Amino acid sequence: MQSDPPRPDGRGNSSLIQQLWATCASGLWLGFKDPVYRARRKEFADIAYNYRHGQPIPRVTYTEEEKKTWGTVFRELKSLYPTHACYEHNHVFPLLEKYCGYQEDNIPQLEDISKFLQTCTGFRLRPVAGLLSSRDFLAGLAFRVFHSTQYIRHASKPMYTPEPDICHELLGHVPLFADPSFAQFSQEIGLASLGAPDDFIEKLATVYWFTVEFGLCKEGDSLKAYGAGLLSSFGELQYCLSSKPEIQPLVLEKTSVQKYPVTEFQPVYYVAESFKDAKEKLRKFAQTIPRPFSVRYNPYTQRIEVLDNAKQLKNLADTINSEMGILCNALQKIK
Ligand SMILES: [Fe+2]
Repeated sequence: MQSDPPRPDGRGNSSLIQQLWATCASGLWLGFKDPVYRARRKEFADIAYNYRHGQPIPRVTYTEEEKKTWGTVFRELKSLYPTHACYEHNHVFPLLEKYCGYQEDNIPQLEDISKFLQTCTGFRLRPVAGLLSSRDFLAGLAFRVFHSTQYIRHASKPMYTPEPDICHELLGHVPLFADPSFAQFSQEIGLASLGAPDDFIEKLATVYWFTVEFGLCKEGDSLKAYGAGLLSSFGELQYCLSSKPEIQPLVLEKTSVQKYPVTEFQPVYYVAESFKDAKEKLRKFAQTIPRPFSVRYNPYTQRIEVLDNAKQLKNLADTINSEMGILCNALQKIK
């Protein structure tokens, strides 16, 4: 099996957009020259453009050719997960097989996965036609919304795509969004982005790149992959845990300004001690963002609250007080 070239996925990253144009212009992206594939992509784009929040995500009847492409990617990657993927990914994957139609001969439906994620962590999927700006994409995470592509890569090269596709989203991202700790970490990146100046948006997008897309984490004495760019790339998933790349601890002041290539395997990866640790670091990092207010996601209303007046703070204090009462009561019963 041919190992896949790196599959860049940097939504909203301007250098990736430039790269995609360069890829199209050079003819490397075979779909660009295939009128049937381009017409099919328009069908998916129309679904995304017409989608409105709260609606069920339209189901897609995938062609036999598309299912064959999915099957190739699914089979190859699944063989690596037990040894290369983090505990959380391996824990959730069988549940996706059981409840969401993750099978070699079936491309799962976004609507089924979105419902599954809502029961696990409150995350929802929203179909998207292609790349979003970093600000828009990160803002979605603040609301526990993940923008997901629904189309699949061109059938001529099943182990390569120059852009995110449904294989990347479903095999790389979705299992981790079912984990409460990872979901919280992802949302923290989104919350930090709201109202942040452009230079910090770029830093947060870089943090996203080295964590959600290309992150490694510790498991005992070994390293495992949790980044979706790794978990959806047969070649880079093996490379990232070899002795070839440079491995650095996750230090956001440094990670957030790290330059990275989008067309090659990453020369450096950052290792998180745990998702909880990464979340704490992100919260501290977010405090350095110059903005005159704090924000909070209200899970009951599914809205963002701007904490910039005494009334808002009192409401928050009352909520925390109520939750603390429940916690104390439960602790006493456990004793
Ligand atoms: Fe991605």
